[in-house]
Amino acid sequence: MDSRSPSSSPPLGLRTPDAADYAALGAWVPDAETCIRWSGPKLKFPFMPEQLPQLLAEPGSHSFVMSRGPAEALGFCQFWEREAGVAHLARIILAPAARGQGLAATLCRLLMAQAAQIAGAHTFTLRVYRDNHPALAAYEGLGFVAVPEQSDERIFFMRKPPAGAAPAKA
Ligand SMILES: CC(C)(COP(=O)(O)OP(=O)(O)OC[C@H]1O[C@@H](n2cnc3c(N)ncnc32)[C@H](O)[C@@H]1OP(=O)(O)O)[C@@H](O)C(=O)NCCC(=O)NCCS
Repeated sequence: MDSRSPSSSPPLGLRTPDAADYAALGAWVPDAETCIRWSGPKLKFPFMPEQLPQLLAEPGSHSFVMSRGPAEALGFCQFWEREAGVAHLARIILAPAARGQGLAATLCRLLMAQAAQIAGAHTFTLRVYRDNHPALAAYEGLGFVAVPEQSDERIFFMRKPPAGAAPAKA
């Protein structure tokens, strides 16, 4: 059997990105439109992939790639603590070859587990363009709900309350 086949390879997990991961990540963002939808207006396109660690740095941010053990990165993501117990998820992206397989939810679950472990987070937030349908579907499936007063005509601000919390009043 091929030792690289999914049945014998390590499970998907998060690890700290290295230089090769940032080079790969740069190739997943081919144009300004993808860049702004992935990372917001702060990161200007085009960028130098080797500068991504600095360009993506936010106060208290933690960056990860998703992979099977040390194998090539399949996704990238970040979180930072907004306030005690609340982690903001950001810069979520999958390698183009890894899309369309439901892995967005896996990436988010792994990221939320890291945020819970590192920062004690129990509540999670994120921003997503309203017309980013795969991203929105994945986030809604995970229990994220749009917060109207913090959203605008282009972008939903979404929040996932702690498991078992009462739903927010409309
Ligand atoms: C956003 C992204 C991570 C989503 O990953 P993906 O592999 O494309 O999506 P998945 O295969 O995980 O599917 C996610 C959900 O969207 C649904 N979906 C896929 N394409 C869709 C479409 N065109 N319209 C509506 N729903 C769609 C899937 O059925 C799935 O729903 P489910 O969880 O209810 O089964 C990926 O597209 C990406 O990296 N995009 C570029 C960067 C980006 O936009 N990041 C988002 C920042 S907020």
